[in-house]
Formats: sequence, structure tokens, C-alpha cells
Amino acid sequence: MPDREGRGDGVPLSKNHFEDSLDELVRQSKAVRDDIWEGTMKEYMALVHKDAKVSQLAPGRIYDMIMQKGTAEVVGVEKLPHYEDLVKYNFFTEEIFGVEEILHDLVRFFRAGANRTETGKRILILVGPVSSGKSTIVSILKRGMEQDPTPLFAIRNCPVHEEPLHLVPRSQRAEFENLLGVKIEGDLCPVCKYRLTTEPEWRDHDGNYKWEDFPVVQLQLSERSRVGIGTFQPSDPKNQDISELIGHVDLGRITQYGEGHPLGYKFDGELQVSNRGMIEYVEILKCDIKFHYVLITVAQEQLIKAPGFPQTYVDTVIVSHTNQTEFEKFKSNKENEALHDRMYPIYVPYNLKYQDEVAIYRKLISRSEFQDKVHLAPLSLEMAGLFAVLTRLTSSPQCPDFLKKAKYYNGEAIMEKEKDPVDLKKLWLEGKEKGEGMSGISPRFVMNALNIALGTAKEGTGCVNPVDVIRALKHQFDHHIGFTDEERARYIDLLMAEKGSVLAEYRQKARKEINRAFLFAYDDQAQALFDNYMHNATSYCMKRKILDPVTHEESEPDEKLMRSIEEMVGISEGAKAEFRQGLFVFKSDSMDRGKAFDFKSYPPLQEAIEKKLITDLKNIVSLTLADRSRKDPKTMERKNEAISKLVERGYCPACSEALLEFVGEMLRKEE
Ligand SMILES: Nc1ncnc2c1ncn2[C@@H]1O[C@H](COP(=O)(O)OP(=O)(O)OP(=O)(O)O)[C@@H](O)[C@H]1O
Ligand SMILES: [Mg+2]
Ligand SMILES: [Zn+2]
Ligand SMILES: [Zn+2]
Repeated sequence: MPDREGRGDGVPLSKNHFEDSLDELVRQSKAVRDDIWEGTMKEYMALVHKDAKVSQLAPGRIYDMIMQKGTAEVVGVEKLPHYEDLVKYNFFTEEIFGVEEILHDLVRFFRAGANRTETGKRILILVGPVSSGKSTIVSILKRGMEQDPTPLFAIRNCPVHEEPLHLVPRSQRAEFENLLGVKIEGDLCPVCKYRLTTEPEWRDHDGNYKWEDFPVVQLQLSERSRVGIGTFQPSDPKNQDISELIGHVDLGRITQYGEGHPLGYKFDGELQVSNRGMIEYVEILKCDIKFHYVLITVAQEQLIKAPGFPQTYVDTVIVSHTNQTEFEKFKSNKENEALHDRMYPIYVPYNLKYQDEVAIYRKLISRSEFQDKVHLAPLSLEMAGLFAVLTRLTSSPQCPDFLKKAKYYNGEAIMEKEKDPVDLKKLWLEGKEKGEGMSGISPRFVMNALNIALGTAKEGTGCVNPVDVIRALKHQFDHHIGFTDEERARYIDLLMAEKGSVLAEYRQKARKEINRAFLFAYDDQAQALFDNYMHNATSYCMKRKILDPVTHEESEPDEKLMRSIEEMVGISEGAKAEFRQGLFVFKSDSMDRGKAFDFKSYPPLQEAIEKKLITDLKNIVSLTLADRSRKDPKTMERKNEAISKLVERGYCPACSEALLEFVGEMLRKEE
């Protein structure tokens, strides 16, 4: 423990030094507050004139905030056919993985709001299964608004921190709008209006209001301080109190000011608090019907009515979320019709790309105490992600094989596509229509299983491998409420049936891992084979001869070599031209983008080359694994070399042994 005057790093701080540092930190904490702009309404108007963005309405601010972080391209098969203009929004990419089309929907909604259309004024409702990321999306937006670099201003001491432009007299709005280059919406709140009209300091000697002198201050949105960001959750569903939404009479002051007096009312309902920002409305569909009227006028006219006062203007984005069952019930209830029209549903299904699902688990594990303590063998999270995705898919006549479908969505399995051309676009749209992703296993279910596996990581080794994960997932079904017997049986089948399951997939992958490890000079050999193939295929496509660098003799491209590789992945004689052409285009495209092009760049060809190299290997592998007792030095050496290759690929020695064991068992059973 550092002593009183010392710090942990061993450099002792003198008493004076400590006090100086303390003073400096305290000073800095105040400097932040000093940075906050204060001025008059007139000065504020100059700011607006300089940059109209400071007076944007909430949806527009949110839209800008998202766009300011920029976008990235969605590449390759990842690019879902749903929208031609699909992009990744950097604003979300660190927290939300996959589901690009949902975020795209969301951004469109805010864009509609930024353009001040009717659409953008509706109540946003995120509909999706449990743990699909609805709350996470809302909280990213809220945190983003708190840190939004575009400054925001309000009338000083206004209970709803309103837009200062409300001070501009109605009769002169058009002229001011013209001069400032902005649209002015809304009128003064009762409190500000009362102050302006009754406090003598805002009158000149002719009796006119000096509204241009009214104090304006920069606004810092903060959910914790209840400024501009609110959460509304009815405390008691049976006895919902509207005042939580629109404020209430201030009992302490009502005797002093009397009823209907602006100073005798507390404008601190959640809708008022969230003026200028966003309100998260939890369980909106369970709200009492009397709340509907309030919500309808907010959505329609951006007005709320506190009892005894004229309607007051609010500028807030209402976001709520719900599950599908609840939403269907709400939709079918005629009583809710008026609200139906004012809602803008966005469906938030689960991820259908398992690599993105893996990213979710990584994110959650990196925040847990297991990070750095437990070794996760390669493929462990991939298998968990694959399982989750499999349970979410719907069957399709186009592609009855779920594993294959999962790989298509993940951007793999292009090769199979060449064999039996599946229209990915049709497949995806068909899935959407069937509500693909709206049911199945949630990330939370998988995380619960993973946490158990991580928490009981084998004594001594401290590792978790895919087999442990599969086991933990199976076990998790005994500790989960909410699946029907039928669902449960189907999910367990997808996890560990003999064919078409995660376990079956893992067996194949494990085998490939071992093969690769034994083929230690693998990458060099593969690259050489690849270069040779590409050289020939390129000449073939360009209808050129091959020039021997030494003898300068010309010859035809080597058909035999090319076919021996293509046959490995089932490219027929009839399909070879198309395959080579596709590859040729892919190569030129990669080069145009300035990307390296090696044997791993084009997965179908990588697979073909690996298969070709590996066919001769199976014998060597089984020999090594069978030789447990004899401990032949040559065999041992081979094994150790394989293990060192596995270690390079992210296995630890213990995990490598476990993998060898697993594959050895498989091979023995096959004999
Ligand atoms: N697409 C995704 N990207 C990143 N994380 C995700 C995604 N989907 C879910 N998660 C993670 O899963 C967990 C649950 O998500 P969240 O609580 O946001 O879901 P929800 O839809 O609000 O669930 P509920 O209906 O149970 O309230 C969170 O830790 C979240 O980070
Ligand atoms: Mg939630
Ligand atoms: Zn006000
Ligand atoms: Zn390990």
C-alpha cells in the first residue's frame, strides 16, 4: 500500500506537491464548467446565424450525431440484398454487431425527423425477441447524445430547458426565420412566459418586452441529472399516475401562488425532462389508455397539456421497445387504433451472421472477469455462435440445409453456391417474410452457458474448448424456462445430432485443423500451388499461352493441374470456365482495391488447394495418433511439430492435446 505521501509507482510526493496537484485537479474540474457558454438571446441568435445546427430539433440532432461519425462500406456477401444503399454506421459499430439493416431503418427514421416530416414525429417502437439488443441500441443513442459535440442552448432556468428561439414574438417569426436561416417551432413554456411578462427587468421604458436580453445558457444533456434524456417506466401498472409523465401541482407552493400559476406547478414529468432529447418509454404497450391521449398529441403536434395550463411544446424523440407477442396483441386491439397510426415500428431480430454473433460474445467476455484468465480454444465461440444462428433460421425449400444457410448468411460457402446456385437475395427476403431471426436462442442464453463453461474451466489447464461449449449449451436447457418441449428437442438436435448439427460441423472443422497442423509447410506449399494455378488460370482466361521463363518455349495452360484442383471442390468440366473467369474478376477487383491477393483471398480456391494437399495426409495423421504406446521417436517428433503449429494458431498445448485426442477418437471410430 502506498503511504500517505507516496504514490503506487514509488515516486514519493511531498506534502506540498500533493496539495498542488489536488488544487490543480479541483481547478480543472471547474474549468470544464467555465467553458460553458452564457449570453443573451441576442448573442444566441448570432450563434444560430453562424451555425444553424445548434438550433436543430432532437431527431435532426440525433441524425447528425450518427452521421458525423461516418459510415463504412458493407463488403462482399455481407452486403445484404435488402437495401442497395446499405452501409455500416461507425456510431454503432463498437457496440452493435451485424444487424446492419436494422440500424439502416433506424437512421432512415431519424433522417425523416431531421427533415421535419410526419414520419419522423412518430413514436419509435423497437419490436424484437428477448435480448436482441433493443435496450442496447437505445442506450447507445442516449450516451451519444450526452457526448454530442454540437453544442445546444436553452433559456436559463427554464424548467424544460427550452429552445431560446421560442422567445421570438409570433408576429415576427417569418422575418427572424429569414434572417437566421432556420425554422422556429414552438412557444414559450408557462414559466418563461410568466417571467418575461411579469419581471420588471424585461421591460423598457416604453413598456416593451426586452426578450432579446433574456439569458441563454449552453445545455449539457445528462440522463443522471434528468436533463434532456429520460426513462419512463410506470411504477405500478395497475395504478399508473399521469403526473410521472406531465408533472404535477407543487403542493409546497400552491398555497402561495394559487392554482393554475406557473410557479405552483412542477414541470418535471418525464416528457418535460426529456425535452430537447430522448425519452425511453418502457412497456409502452402496457400503459393505461389515459396515457394514449398524451402520447398521441406529443407524436402528432409535439404538445403536452399540463392541467390548468395551455398546451406546451416539447421536442423529444420517444423510443419504446417490446416483444413480438405483445406487439401483435396491441396491433389487433381496435381500441389502440389512434396510437397505431402514430407509431413507427422497427423490427429488431437476432443476428443471422454467426461471426457477428461471436463478436457479441467477445464483447461481453472482455467485460467479465474471465478475460485473460481463461483460455478459449479456437472455434469455441464460433460454434456457440453457429448454434445460436441455426436456432433462428427458418426452413426454406431453396436451401433445406440449415448449416449451409448459416454459412451463406455468413458469407461463406460460395463454393457450394457454384455447384447449386442458390439466389442469396431470394433466400434472404424469403427468410425476412417468415420472420427469420424473430425467435430462437438469445445471446443471453448462450452467454449463460459460456459463463458456466468459463467458470468451471478445467482445473489446472484453465481452458474451454468447443466440446466444453457444446456440453454447456446442452446443460443450459435444463436451466431455462420458456421453451416448449418441441422447441427444446429441435434445438438440441441442432446442437448435437449426428448430421447437420453444430457437433457434426465441429468434427469436420477439428479434422481440418489437425490436417493443417500436420501439413506444417502448409502455407508455403499452398501458396506455391496457388501461384501455379493462378498463372495457368489467368492465361486461360486471357486466352494466352504460357511462356517458360527459362526455355522461352510457349505452351498451353496446364489443364491437368487446374482440373486436379478444381475437382477437389466439385467444379465440373462444364463449370470450369465460369469458375476461372470468376476468379479472374475477383483477382482484378482485389488488386484495384489495393488488397493483397494470396491463396487465402478466395475461399473456394483456398479450400480446393487445401483439399488437394491434404488427401495424402490422412494416413500420416492416423498413424501418429494410433502410436500412443510405442512412442516411436519419428512419430513423436511429427506430433510435436503439429502441436507447435497449433500453438501458432491460437491453441495452447493442453488444447492441442485435447484436439488431437478428439480427432484421434473420430478416426478410430471410422476404421
Ligand atoms: N446485435 C448485437 N450486437 C451487440 N450486442 C448485442 C446484440 N444483440 C444483443 N446483444 C447483447 O445482448 C445483451 C442483451 O441485449 P439487450 O438487453 O439490449 O436486449 P433487449 O432486446 O433489450 O432484451 P430484452 O427484451 O430482454 O429487454 C446485451 O449485452 C447486448 O450487448
Ligand atoms: Mg431490454
Ligand atoms: Zn421555459
Ligand atoms: Zn487452452
